[in-house]
Amino acid sequence: MAVLKLYSLYIFYTLISITISASPAQSLSLSASTDVELLLVKIKASLQGNTENLLLSSWNSSVPLCQWRGLKWVFSNGSPLSCIDISAPQWTNLSLYKEPSLHLLSLQLPSANLTGSLPRELGGFSMLQSLYLNINSLSGTIPLELGYSSSLSDIDLSDNVFSGALAPSVWNLCDRLVSLRLHGNALAGSLPEPALPNTTCNNLQFLDLGSNKFSGSFPEFVTRFQGINELDLSGNMFSGPIPETLTGLKLEKLNLSHNNFSGVLPVFGESKFGVEVFEGNDPSLCGLPLRSCSGSSGLSPGAIAGIVIGLMTGVVVLASLLIGYMQNKRRKGMEDSDDDMEECEDDEVGGVGGVGGEGKLILFQGGEHLTLEDVLNATGQVMEKTSYGTVYKAKLADGGTIALRLMREGSCKDRSSCLPVIKQLGKIRHDSLIPLRAFYQGKRGEKLLIYDYLPNRTLHDLLFESKAGKPMLNWARRHKIALAIARGLAYLHTGLETPITHGNVRSKNVLVDEFFVARLTEFGLDKLMIPTVADEIVALAKTDGYKAPELQRMKKCNSRTDVYAFGILLLEILIGKKPGKNGRNNDFVDLPSIVKVAVLEETTMEVFDLEVLKGVRSPMEEGLVQALKLAMGCCAPVASVRPTMDEVVKQLEENRPRNRSALYSPNETRSEIGTPF
Ligand SMILES: *[C@@H]1O[C@H](CO)[C@@H](O)[C@H](O)[C@H]1NC(C)=O
Ligand SMILES: *[C@@H]1O[C@H](CO)[C@@H](O)[C@H](O)[C@H]1NC(C)=O
Ligand SMILES: *[C@@H]1O[C@H](CO)[C@@H](O)[C@H](O)[C@H]1NC(C)=O
Ligand SMILES: *[C@@H]1O[C@H](CO)[C@@H](O)[C@H](O)[C@H]1NC(C)=O
Ligand SMILES: *[C@@H]1O[C@H](CO)[C@@H](O)[C@H](O)[C@H]1NC(C)=O
Ligand SMILES: *[C@@H]1O[C@H](CO)[C@@H](O)[C@H](O)[C@H]1NC(C)=O
Repeated sequence: MAVLKLYSLYIFYTLISITISASPAQSLSLSASTDVELLLVKIKASLQGNTENLLLSSWNSSVPLCQWRGLKWVFSNGSPLSCIDISAPQWTNLSLYKEPSLHLLSLQLPSANLTGSLPRELGGFSMLQSLYLNINSLSGTIPLELGYSSSLSDIDLSDNVFSGALAPSVWNLCDRLVSLRLHGNALAGSLPEPALPNTTCNNLQFLDLGSNKFSGSFPEFVTRFQGINELDLSGNMFSGPIPETLTGLKLEKLNLSHNNFSGVLPVFGESKFGVEVFEGNDPSLCGLPLRSCSGSSGLSPGAIAGIVIGLMTGVVVLASLLIGYMQNKRRKGMEDSDDDMEECEDDEVGGVGGVGGEGKLILFQGGEHLTLEDVLNATGQVMEKTSYGTVYKAKLADGGTIALRLMREGSCKDRSSCLPVIKQLGKIRHDSLIPLRAFYQGKRGEKLLIYDYLPNRTLHDLLFESKAGKPMLNWARRHKIALAIARGLAYLHTGLETPITHGNVRSKNVLVDEFFVARLTEFGLDKLMIPTVADEIVALAKTDGYKAPELQRMKKCNSRTDVYAFGILLLEILIGKKPGKNGRNNDFVDLPSIVKVAVLEETTMEVFDLEVLKGVRSPMEEGLVQALKLAMGCCAPVASVRPTMDEVVKQLEENRPRNRSALYSPNETRSEIGTPF
């Protein structure tokens, strides 16, 4: 405690010097060092290191306290400061930070690009319960003063670059500690024993020290922590035997892999843990589930039974795979014969602008100058492969460029189902939709769709590619893009004689030009597929985060599934995260769940992409919050409660960002679409 007092004194002097230099209006109260002062004076500077941090810059006395990122507050009497309701007075109260009875309750800034170090003053907050600074680049040691905290219960400092030894004071927190996660740092030395030999850390459930450089023998004192549920010591350099006492814990998860443990494994309950829990240790480590210690043949009857069962299931799987393959083959054979018939039929169809024997070219408005020779002699380069085929950038002999989409196998074969769809697609003209200029069907049924080539980036690239020279996507620009997409979809749903669904709304199918004019591509192509193939494509898109839940059962896309996909796309635009399977572990990222969790945890403002918030003074007045609500409405699990695209357009138009003057410059060339190539 003596140490802490000294710091308070130090802070006191720091504050005096600040007060002298600051303007009277912004001066901090001198009477006592409140949590706010501690935060502003010590914590902020230490966490951000040498580079200014965007999130930490919100910790500023000219920003209302509720809008300081990553923090939760509680009054001395224990009642929390609620910052959820952004229309409540405290959301905009500029003097709240002077309130002496406010205390820091939690500091949560995971993945916040923090590059500094952990300040020792963190131990000085009297009511701080959770500290989550995982996934940053914080370095240096974990200060021993952290253990002086009287309130910390949850600590996650995983995936930083902390080094040095862990101070024994950390076990002083034992009375309250529930989780301690230090995974993925460079902490070294042996794990310190608690100062009091009988320490039991009764509340501690999660202890994750994996992927560090800890060494020494198994920290046996941990086996006295009776409440431990999950223990991870993997990926360190612990050595020696694993103590029998470990089996006394009611562990649900254990990971001791990739150390240098040796000797005989204690007997955990029946096949409780698999090989992966113990693998990668000294080869001498033995006992179930690893090899038997006897040195003989080593397979227990149980293990043999396991292998036999394993083999049997293997056979079953193999057989069913084979059956599936044969059925598939037979079906394919049947389809092939169908094809032959339809091709004969096709040959009798007269194409527009066709050249004898080579197939047919159908021209639409804006594509009149194209000839079959042009198209067939164009030199192409693959731009993209999608579920409906391959897109080429093709150079024409006259120097023009077109985008050619070669449909994959399984597109419609007969004239009666194909031509009406093609003709409908060829008629669609809208500022937000890339127009189809021509269509070619070859003798073998191959189909080419010919579009304008736009040398633009996809929205997906714009959001996620980190190329130099990438334009900043602030809220005004993102709103413009979202509104354009919404208008395009609304036109498909209600602006046409025969409505059409897009069927594949996703950021990769949105092209954005230098003025942030967005245009949709790949619309209506599901109508060109044989229904079973179209269903298959929808079904295969399992990993696809844009898929409405009802598509798991009925595979037909409709306007409501488009609205769902648009909702996901809007979340993607707001949050800046890729939906669906991606990320380090190929985890499924469900954007609506991320928002729900944030709302529950009262961290709604933190879900927004950092760039989105740049320059936004009031997220409410500038339509940001409404856009988030709208997106969530579009993603409603029950299709019937989703808004229509017309409603979406209306809402986006009514809730616009304020500063968009720069966007609608006279330079904007909207007429470009009408004059192709
Ligand atoms: C706080 O914000 C104001 C206005 O945005 C800025 O002028 C000032 O430099 C900031 N103060 C600190 C300490 O960052
Ligand atoms: C702002 O907060 C201060 C300090 O807690 C309080 O005295 C004041 O009444 C609040 N103002 C409003 C408008 O709520
Ligand atoms: C992270 O910080 C670095 C500088 O330290 C900066 O260049 C980069 O843009 C920051 N990234 C984000 C997402 O803020
Ligand atoms: C530790 O616990 C044992 C028995 O549980 C007891 O006899 C001993 O006095 C305790 N020691 C301390 C320092 O509390
Ligand atoms: C156990 O730890 C190893 C090494 O740190 C890691 O590769 C593995 O994924 C972990 N296993 C589980 C089930 O967490
Ligand atoms: C592993 O432990 C054994 C003793 O059990 C020791 O001889 C050996 O050097 C250790 N290996 C490493 C890589 O630490």
